[in-house]
Amino acid sequence: MNLPSGTVIGVIGGGQLGKMLIEASRPWNTPYIVLENDLDCPASQVAASVLLGKLTDGDKIAELAAQCDVLTYEIEHINSDALLALEHSGKRIIPSAKALKIIQDKGLQKSFYAKHGIATAPFVLCDNQEALKASMDQFSGERVVIKQRTGGYDGKGVDIVSKAAVLSGDYQTPGPCVVEQFYRNITEYAVIVAADQHGHVLSYPLIEMYFNPKSNLVEFLFSPAETSPTLEENCREIAIKAVAAIGSPGLFAVELFVTENAEVLVNEIAPRPHNSGHHTIEGSYTSQFEQLNRILLGLPLGDTGMVQPAAMVNLVGAAGQFGSYSLPATRELLSMPGVYVHLYNKKEIKPDRKMGHITVLAPNMDELLEKARKVQALAVFETH
Ligand SMILES: Nc1ncnc2c1ncn2[C@@H]1O[C@H](COP(=O)(O)OP(=O)(O)O)[C@@H](O)[C@H]1O
Ligand SMILES: [Mg+2]
Repeated sequence: MNLPSGTVIGVIGGGQLGKMLIEASRPWNTPYIVLENDLDCPASQVAASVLLGKLTDGDKIAELAAQCDVLTYEIEHINSDALLALEHSGKRIIPSAKALKIIQDKGLQKSFYAKHGIATAPFVLCDNQEALKASMDQFSGERVVIKQRTGGYDGKGVDIVSKAAVLSGDYQTPGPCVVEQFYRNITEYAVIVAADQHGHVLSYPLIEMYFNPKSNLVEFLFSPAETSPTLEENCREIAIKAVAAIGSPGLFAVELFVTENAEVLVNEIAPRPHNSGHHTIEGSYTSQFEQLNRILLGLPLGDTGMVQPAAMVNLVGAAGQFGSYSLPATRELLSMPGVYVHLYNKKEIKPDRKMGHITVLAPNMDELLEKARKVQALAVFETH
């Protein structure tokens, strides 16, 4: 099969995920056009061109589509009705607009899992405060998780609250929400799943996440996860089952919870490359970004195996950090073998803003953990 040279790919969103997606296409010279509201966005340096416009603007999305052979997106908060209309008119959109419609709304997403027999935390959909109060007796324990159905990301729009606060009216939901059983002491994992245009599906090794308890951002992650082969297999099977049910080609990140009772639950799916898969750039034979390029171009899937155990440390703005910034330890970090620094070219730092990440490779888990902790201690931004 020849490389489909000349295929123009449109990507809705020009953040770091778009940037890394385009970087992975460089060996194949695929031109990318990015839709973003900022001409200086992280992807702007590597895109063939940037179309200036809002990701919610249906006309702009149609304008992008007219210039591209295939469309994808690097963020869920976009105009999916416009994508649906384009899909109906025959435009190739990967993952499908239909898949995005389900994923955009946490309520539809949870109902989808229930309908397809995919294990997920028990939930109730609530349209208002009254329904929210009435749902409390459906859940065990003292606390529940309340998720806004649309618009949330990186833990924003997710609240862990006491039932008492809901019943007394101290907690008010700003809109329609999903109420979920709260699980204490869950271990959080992700499985990246790749589905090509010809029905082939592959999963990557299990990724174990460590979240910062304050910001709820992934602080670092490891792969392969330190777990039993049986659990690894279960997780990868459930992730593949969930993506197969969605029935669209694409690169998906399936977030999983493993409970204290070793139950595996699907939390949510991201229909795009994911923060938890960044270590695949150096750690895997085929990165999540190369894999999505292959899928978009109709090429065969690449090997999802790992070159070495890998860890990924997120570089995020600390509390009180605003404006211009530098990473003083860059030279020291780059002098460490198996350490790869990625900076997203964001103009200004902000608390919790993802500014970059560092991948760490090591021949075994002990060395990996030691190096990752050292990297984490060094990787501190200074503001000017
Ligand atoms: N049912 C639950 N029980 C315990 N913790 C949860 C539950 N649901 C979510 N969380 C915690 O909140 C985080 C964010 O929730 P998630 O649904 O993934 O929203 P987001 O879209 O912001 O990533 C999860 O990664 C997990 O740490
Ligand atoms: Mg999540």
